[in-house]
Amino acid sequence: MSQFKCALIAIWCLSFVNSAVAVDLVGDVKAGEVKSAACAACHGPNGINTTGGFPNLAGQNQTYIMTSLRAFREKKREADIMNTIAAALNDQDIANLAVFYSGLSPCP
Ligand code: HEC
Repeated sequence: MSQFKCALIAIWCLSFVNSAVAVDLVGDVKAGEVKSAACAACHGPNGINTTGGFPNLAGQNQTYIMTSLRAFREKKREADIMNTIAAALNDQDIANLAVFYSGLSPCP
């Protein structure tokens, strides 16, 4: 019985690891920086908006950025501009951008 329980726990742990890998790809800072050229006009070259009206991304929580970009892409979060932009991003782009922006200083 305890062996059975142990096997169940092991299977549960493995399924958790697998889903964690599928959901959270490891981001590449350099690739994120390259991709961020497409975002700089609105969110600022260092993730700090300079023109007004657009949110800062520098130092924002990595998971929050990923969740937001996926939500924009799937139109679960509606915002015309970001829905269009996020539609062109794949999961790896999103992970790269999230790790890049979260690592920037939020101070100008
Ligand atoms: C043409 C302007 C524009 C460009 C280019 C742009 N964004 Fe945005 N972005 C916006 C606006 C406007 C919002 C606010 C949307 C809303 O109403 O929630 C936003 C919101 C966001 C948010 C959510 C911020 C928050 O605090 O909730 C993220 C993350 C984001 N953008 C990432 C990106 C990334 C990454 C790129 C480049 C691939 C990009 N954006 C390019 C205009 C832009």
